[in-house]
Amino acid sequence: MEKKYKIITYGCQMNVHESEKIAGILRRMGYEETATEDTADIIVFNTCCIRENAENHAFGNIGALKKLKRNNPNLIIAVGGCMTQEKGKTEILKQKFPFIDIMFGTLNLEELEELIKEKQAGKKRVVRIRETEGEIVEFDGAYRTSYPNAWVNIMYGCNNFCSYCIVPYVRGRERSRKPEHIVAEVKKLVAEGYKEITLLGQNVNSYGTDGLGVSFAELLDAVASIEGKFRLRFMTSHPKDFNEEIVKVMQKHRKIMRLVHLPVQSGSNEVLKNMNRRYTREKYLAEIEMLRSYFPEAEVTTDIIVGFPGETEEDYLLTEDLVKRVNYASAFTFVYSKRQGTKAAAMENQIPEEVQKDRIMRLVALVNSLTRQKSEAYLGKTVEILCEDYDEKKGLYLGRDEFGRMGYFKSEQNEIGNFVDLKITEANGISLYGEKV
Ligand code: SAH
Ligand code: SF4
Ligand code: F3S
Repeated sequence: MEKKYKIITYGCQMNVHESEKIAGILRRMGYEETATEDTADIIVFNTCCIRENAENHAFGNIGALKKLKRNNPNLIIAVGGCMTQEKGKTEILKQKFPFIDIMFGTLNLEELEELIKEKQAGKKRVVRIRETEGEIVEFDGAYRTSYPNAWVNIMYGCNNFCSYCIVPYVRGRERSRKPEHIVAEVKKLVAEGYKEITLLGQNVNSYGTDGLGVSFAELLDAVASIEGKFRLRFMTSHPKDFNEEIVKVMQKHRKIMRLVHLPVQSGSNEVLKNMNRRYTREKYLAEIEMLRSYFPEAEVTTDIIVGFPGETEEDYLLTEDLVKRVNYASAFTFVYSKRQGTKAAAMENQIPEEVQKDRIMRLVALVNSLTRQKSEAYLGKTVEILCEDYDEKKGLYLGRDEFGRMGYFKSEQNEIGNFVDLKITEANGISLYGEKV
């Protein structure tokens, strides 16, 4: 009988892609995927610790496996991802959940096979978490589950130490992959039929500054020069490093989508300073203006935190003002979450929960109203959609346009992986509906 695996993923795109690598390792070992936990022989949690609620989710779901493990002592439970790299967290996990069999970190993901074998050889519990980052281990065995989209790491780690953020502590320092490895990977993906490539890094604009001698703009140019019809995206950009050289490369290649994810975090210079973001609202707005001087149609998405220590009502209103000025296509909005060990956790004047809640509600309403307005502007237009899935319930195919907008349509043939021109007939909030033309 086939052995089965189930992977549960939390967190960002980086983790989603790393789960594809974990799946690749498990399949190489002869495991097959299963949809439910109670039919699995191994369950892997790929955790995130960016905010407290991400951790609470993982704690809850790991805890729920206690009974399953009791009924099936052969079941292997493995926990990896950012939480295991967090100071003191592995100890807490061990104490709370003595039934965890394997713990591994973000810096030694590729060792998972070895760890599973040690466990199978009779070891009670296998814990291996690297404290410092080593050389990048090239791994080309990812089992991708997001066709026609493919994620490609261009770098790992982060050097920025934004004062609220735990990522630099759990992902180590910035390390860039060699451009020839990245180009070879994308070439292979395009040859295999992938239609959308997203280059991934915590701060892609600082690619290569760790001594490679190749800038992000140069890498982007090289990847966009690969032949074939595919869309190219990149994330995340950091406003302190985003620049005109990158926009010029975008202009050179129509393959690069005119959508930039540029997290602003706050519209107040005082808050930005305390967040250690190293740019001002003026610099940020000037970058948007520069981008739109090349592409008036360019869309921008962002991440925003409200309720950062010391944020006043005036600071918050500056964020609202900036959101309106930029006129974002969409935004991920977060309530500040205190992370042990970060600079901001030690700051005075933490903001009361009810004030944070009030601000996030107002901000979400504002962002939604912008998104809705933009939806209406789609009516009657024809846009190119890359079809990525079929919605059984709706009986419709769905895909995204250049700006990440979801569009639904009917078709009698399998459209997944096709570029489809869609005439938009209906727009409701965030989704579009249309007819294939
Ligand atoms: N490297 C990217 C993304 C990092 S995590 C960047 O620099 O933008 C994604 C988002 O989570 C961040 O942009 C930030 O908005 C949010 N975030 C990070 N730490 C947080 C915290 N402690 N509380 C609330 N939101 C946080
Ligand atoms: Fe966190 Fe800042 Fe690094 Fe992004 S750039 S991962 S927010 S420290
Ligand atoms: Fe979470 Fe780690 Fe990503 S903390 S947001 S999974 S880098």
